[in-house]
Amino acid sequence: MEEDYLEQLVMESASLSSKMREYIYVEMSHGVKVSNLAQEVAKELGEDETFCRQIAVAGLLHDIGKLWVMKHMNEAGSEETLTIERMKIVRMHPTHSCDMLMAEGYPAGITQAVYYHHENVDGTGYPENLRGDKIPWMARILRICDVYCALTTDRSYRRAFERFAAMEIMIDEVEDYDMRCFLAFQRVIHNEAGEKLRSLCTVISPLQKEHLPLFVKEAEAL
Ligand SMILES: [Fe+2]
Ligand SMILES: [Fe+2]
Repeated sequence: MEEDYLEQLVMESASLSSKMREYIYVEMSHGVKVSNLAQEVAKELGEDETFCRQIAVAGLLHDIGKLWVMKHMNEAGSEETLTIERMKIVRMHPTHSCDMLMAEGYPAGITQAVYYHHENVDGTGYPENLRGDKIPWMARILRICDVYCALTTDRSYRRAFERFAAMEIMIDEVEDYDMRCFLAFQRVIHNEAGEKLRSLCTVISPLQKEHLPLFVKEAEAL
């Protein structure tokens, strides 16, 4: 099982707390899922191999800044901190993801896609409230894949949505998304056999294996 690979990777670091290990595991699984789906959507959009490799890396690492968020949430305390304060901290994660990747020398195509992965085409996203084609193309693809992967994953407060239920939810907020990306994403979701979709979170490519250790490295450096 490929999940064992993630577990092994997390266990290699003796200095991390069990809570942090669990957190890294969740973020790595999410990254792999987004990475796999984003590659499929990019292929469907006719993007070339370089672009597909870059989006695979950007999808894998887009939320790596959440490790910083987790640390700060813990420091802020859970009960006494206002929800709005916590929201502000959470919304800083694209900036931290981008900073971490820039410090590691990742190319601008990747760092920019990561920085803008929470922007919506109607201007309601963050961190810059960019609109439409002001948002880098790769970030517009990531946005859609990220939302879908989040909806189809179990959370502590709700069960994962089935793929068509997740799609319905996304159609209701379609003004958030780039229409060309969304249509390509819909084709991928509708065309793929259920088996392939289930495996989105379990297949880990050699390219992903090359970059996954960064989660552990960044967590150790916090
Ligand atoms: Fe994110
Ligand atoms: Fe995400």
